[in-house]
Amino acid sequence: MGNSGIPRHIGFIMDGNGRWAKKRAMPRNFGHTQGAAVFKKTINWCRELGVECATFYAFSTENWKRPAEEIRGIMSLLRQYIKDIKSFSDENIRIIILGDISAFDEDIRAELENIMKTSEKNTGFIVGIALNYGGRAEIALAARKIAEKCVSGEISADNVTEELVESFLYTREMPPLDLVIRPSGEQRLSNFMIWQAAYSEFVFMDTLWPDFTKKDLERAIREFQARDRRFGGV
Ligand code: IPE
Ligand code: IPE
Ligand code: MG
Repeated sequence: MGNSGIPRHIGFIMDGNGRWAKKRAMPRNFGHTQGAAVFKKTINWCRELGVECATFYAFSTENWKRPAEEIRGIMSLLRQYIKDIKSFSDENIRIIILGDISAFDEDIRAELENIMKTSEKNTGFIVGIALNYGGRAEIALAARKIAEKCVSGEISADNVTEELVESFLYTREMPPLDLVIRPSGEQRLSNFMIWQAAYSEFVFMDTLWPDFTKKDLERAIREFQARDRRFGGV
């Protein structure tokens, strides 16, 4: 039998927007618009169900390979969504952006930094948004920062523990990642939170992200609760 309650932190790989649009003979960006609406609803469902933190994979370091038109569409959606994200902050929600946002236009970068700062003290819920995020890039960034501290003599190589590495990850102030949900039928992480997912449970489903409902979330949590998390023990 399972031994887990409500997951404290859920990661959502918001996949399947393009296929959802294609099925409707619509441009891919139409799927992204629908997907963004589901993102907003999912935050509320998580809060209603007693989850403490939800991280959403919105744009990966690999997604720059997409056609310029699709990227333009995603950026314009991001600009629209910044307003909504700001309003979360008024509901005592803390927003943490994961990823290298220096790659985005200056107005987007400034807004995101501002949102993180103004919501920093909020305690009701944490929303993580992974933007220009890659798990490998995150670990390489932590390694770079640690190397600098070693070179400056602030720490020695012996001080490099798992805890130290974690203190340089974007997730340092988040609860442990208990569950990763990936819709769209793909069964892979695609570079999402590879360090944090070391002992996460995974729930994959065929539903495309724009069709994701509260029932899908509840089903995934029930499946999580039925799992036996041993963490290497017996
Ligand atoms: C995920 O949906 C959203 C982003 C990567 C921005 P996709 O756009 O990958 O949708 P599919 O996988 O092509 O259906
Ligand atoms: C993962 O989806 C990235 C996001 C959901 C933002 P992709 O559609 O980019 O992943 P692959 O290409 O199927 O691995
Ligand atoms: Mg995809």
